[in-house]
Amino acid sequence: MKVIITGASAGIGAGIARVLAGEGFSLGLLARSGDKLRALCEEFDRNQPDGYAVHASAACDLRDPQATETALHALIDRLDGVDALINNAGVVIRKDVWELTLDEWRTLVETNLCGLFYATRAVLPTMREQRRGHLINVSSISGRMPLPGGSAYAATKYAVAGFTESLFQEVRDFGIKATVLFPGSVDSASHRHDPAADHSWKVKPEEVGLACLDALNTAPGTCISRIEIRPLGRGPG
Ligand SMILES: NC(=O)c1ccc[n+]([C@@H]2O[C@H](COP(=O)([O-])OP(=O)(O)OC[C@H]3O[C@@H](n4cnc5c(N)ncnc54)[C@H](OP(=O)(O)O)[C@@H]3O)[C@@H](O)[C@H]2O)c1
Repeated sequence: MKVIITGASAGIGAGIARVLAGEGFSLGLLARSGDKLRALCEEFDRNQPDGYAVHASAACDLRDPQATETALHALIDRLDGVDALINNAGVVIRKDVWELTLDEWRTLVETNLCGLFYATRAVLPTMREQRRGHLINVSSISGRMPLPGGSAYAATKYAVAGFTESLFQEVRDFGIKATVLFPGSVDSASHRHDPAADHSWKVKPEEVGLACLDALNTAPGTCISRIEIRPLGRGPG
């Protein structure tokens, strides 16, 4: 399978990439940090015994619509097609509304929502033409319930859910699946809001990868349209 993952340079995206690379998938990795993506591709190339899978990267800022379209098309060319796009890239800024700057608001909306739209728009013509594809969009548990002190972040994640569930109705007749993924607390560096706290109870990025693998592996005529993945314990306090 050929899968493009945004936000693959760190955290959940890198965890998803590691799981899918372990399954022998060809991967197109996208983020701004080209050096980290190249290092991951080299790691995956070293670990594959048959050398069959292709691992490619594109350094790109998803807030730039033209750059995003160019990067997605380059990855589709390198992989010689695309079966799935995992829209995972995102930023979190946790501040009360009266403390959030206009730049921070724009960063959240342009990355978490606009970037996801630009990437989706870039792959849809290919998926419609081949009448097959899968879009997995990473929202958050904060896209299902309020996040006091994070209203702007939650707004983008509610938007991702609304976008994905509506998109599913638009694309299903073309044989394209759309899944919205709602992670609870996942142990990535950017979500260690108190770095000194215990984070061992959280979902691991690779465990989100396993959930994506399950969704990708469902029978061709069915789609898991919503996934909520939560840690079993609630953590300290
Ligand atoms: N961790 C959690 O507890 C949690 C819970 C629910 C939902 N989520 C969601 O899961 C996704 C991944 O989160 P994470 O915790 O793994 O965060 P992370 O470790 O900070 O990773 C974010 C990824 O997004 C990329 N990115 C950020 N801005 C970008 C931009 N403008 N253009 C291209 N790539 C960009 C980053 O790469 P570069 O910096 O190299 O560009 C990085 O690869 C996000 O959508 C987040 O909202 C996380």
